[in-house]
Amino acid sequence: MLNLSQKGWLLGTVALLLSACSVPPSGSSTSPQADARVEEILSQMTLEEKLGQLNLVVGDLFNTGPTVNTNPSDRFDEQIRQGQITGIFNIHGAEYLHRLQKIAVEETRLGIPLIFGADVIHGFRSVSPVPLAEAASWDLKAIEASARVAGEESAATGMHWTFAPMVDISRDARWGRIAEGAGEDPYLGSLVAAARVRGFQGEDLSAPNTIAACVKHFAAYGAPHGGRDYNTVDMSERLLREVFLPPYRAAIDAGAASLMTSFNELNGVPVTGSTWLLRDVLREEWGFNGMIVSDWQSITEMEYHGFAKDRAHSGQIGMEAGVDMDMMGATYLEDLPALVKSGDVPMELIDQAVRNVLQMKMDLGLFDDPFRYGSVDREASEIRNAQQLEAVRDMARKSMVLLKNEKNLLPLSKDTRKIALIGPLALESNKGEFNGCWSFFGQPGEVVSVEAAFREAMPASSKLLVAEGCDLYSDSQAGFKQAVKTAKQADVVVMVLGESAVMNGEGASRADIGLPGEQLALLKAVHATGKPLVVLTVSGRPLELSWLDENVGTILHIWTPGSETGHAVTDVVFGDYNPAGKLPVSFPRLVGQVPIYYNYKATGRMYEGDYSEHGSERVYRSRYRDVENGPLYPFGYGLSYTEFEYGEIRLDEPEMSMNGTLTASVSVTNTGKVAGEEVVQLYIRDLVGTATRPVKELKGFQKILLEPGESTTVSFEIGTEDLAFWHDDNTWYAEPGEFHLFIGTNSDEAQMVKFRIKDASAI
Ligand code: BGC
Repeated sequence: MLNLSQKGWLLGTVALLLSACSVPPSGSSTSPQADARVEEILSQMTLEEKLGQLNLVVGDLFNTGPTVNTNPSDRFDEQIRQGQITGIFNIHGAEYLHRLQKIAVEETRLGIPLIFGADVIHGFRSVSPVPLAEAASWDLKAIEASARVAGEESAATGMHWTFAPMVDISRDARWGRIAEGAGEDPYLGSLVAAARVRGFQGEDLSAPNTIAACVKHFAAYGAPHGGRDYNTVDMSERLLREVFLPPYRAAIDAGAASLMTSFNELNGVPVTGSTWLLRDVLREEWGFNGMIVSDWQSITEMEYHGFAKDRAHSGQIGMEAGVDMDMMGATYLEDLPALVKSGDVPMELIDQAVRNVLQMKMDLGLFDDPFRYGSVDREASEIRNAQQLEAVRDMARKSMVLLKNEKNLLPLSKDTRKIALIGPLALESNKGEFNGCWSFFGQPGEVVSVEAAFREAMPASSKLLVAEGCDLYSDSQAGFKQAVKTAKQADVVVMVLGESAVMNGEGASRADIGLPGEQLALLKAVHATGKPLVVLTVSGRPLELSWLDENVGTILHIWTPGSETGHAVTDVVFGDYNPAGKLPVSFPRLVGQVPIYYNYKATGRMYEGDYSEHGSERVYRSRYRDVENGPLYPFGYGLSYTEFEYGEIRLDEPEMSMNGTLTASVSVTNTGKVAGEEVVQLYIRDLVGTATRPVKELKGFQKILLEPGESTTVSFEIGTEDLAFWHDDNTWYAEPGEFHLFIGTNSDEAQMVKFRIKDASAI
């Protein structure tokens, strides 16, 4: 039951929400003229032509799912002539796309242009680090710039649309697709989602160098049980709304032109058939008026979920739920004609879906000039130019996270006489792995390897020794002897160890998230030489690095950094760039702790002590018997070559009134010897609520650059809307009471002060 004062805030919140609703909805940037043109075309279309506009097929470049052979690629010409396809994805080549577009506009009755899409997830030919790595930069400008490069290069080849950003929150390192998102936090994830939409779409969707974004996978695809891809998702509406939905909403508010539904079911209903999610939440509550596409056969897969009785029924459910475009299912094209004729599917639903598709093509400018994107000339000059490569190199070094640096072994001097590079990923021959998952357009041969970059960076007077040691997966230790011999000859050893590209991404869940194959054994053998050792760890997910943390002094997590890997690595390793990346996701000590995340809830039986304690305290507490509760490396963690000292937190007011603000400030000083960047992080905890609140929630951050000895004051303004949470009646508001406010260098190491939101009656 709400008391009177609570009702007061509620009214305020509702008023706020209503005023927010008067902002034009996101998605289509339609002008009234464009709408009229869409209606005009729609009025001329036959049912078959309409359904053709809802049918999306894959090209011949690569597949990301099982292929239904109703649309083999050698029949595209004829299918286009017959108006059976709205567009093709994962296809490329400006000349080829031009030829197909010509058929669509010149040889079909209504001349409706095709849309060409692709999974441009982290760069096109200039490959950026995987999105999880990009998020580790906490640098929204760099992330936006990296998406812009991807958009420009794609558009230069005639592409109109990317299936990105993927904004699924994930707290599960086992899930292979954690690589494609921004990690575990809704606040950081939302800002990254919006930055990536801005990067792809720019100011004007119809500009020939921008492409349409597609926010995916709506919704909660990142929370499959057991971390196994495509698996069931079951979660409370509170968790959904407070943690999992915000990044989709942020991408939509940033103007994402389209959205993809996910494969998973959510609380018993496959999302692709969820009227509640697609119509009530997305369209009604959020005002999304862009285009909704299914994932690869996620409409027809509703039959296998046991939600549709057959394929035609799945098409009916998808259409009723509001999925406009059917990716690779062909059920709209083939099954809906009969269902429309029988009256089971109303024509108005089809018309609305077609309207959304045509509107997106209109917004892309395709009706004005179907050939505005891409040309053979642009393809030659607007891809992998110097600026683009510099942007992905910058992104790559900004993504790297220094996990340990005992005795300041890094940065290495370029004059080190002998450096040994050891490990499967050190080799020139394995450099293609650094393109990471979802890099279909990036050429393995175009990656700068670690080996090549070391050779480039080191003076002729120094020597580089290289040994593979073992391969990525097998159980052979045949190369160990040579690796150990090589290490013994060197002054410093740099090992490059980790996952291959295919160990991340779709269908790439792992139950063991340690270094694969014999790589840990190789590391132990090399470590035993006692040589100064730097380990560069490579992955698209948090790895289990406990042995390394206990035994190796220097660890730099480089993720899969993309085309400019080697250069970015040498920039950091030799100190031309001071690393400042911070983990966007917790690294567990043991995989058994997963899901592990910083914004957990308190239990009635918390335990903060030593896990090895054997007393009555140990029993009946929320803890493990064999490992402590906390992560190995917490969310927000990352070191620098310099050090930062934080002053005391100052609040301008110890209390704020409802709808008021307060400002928290802290001075930060670079106490080390080199310039460096720090991500100053602000967290809050709401101590008591009508629903329990997480022990910490990120509410702000600032990335600052300080020269040695320099200090600055970092201030954060917090409003009560930042402290609002979801209530069962679907309203958001903050509750009065006591809060903790933390500012620090990561989610674990932060100072705390207290403040209050005044009770409304005290105002
Ligand atoms: C993936 C999507 C991707 C689509 C098209 C699906 O298997 O889940 O993320 O966009 O394939 O390639």
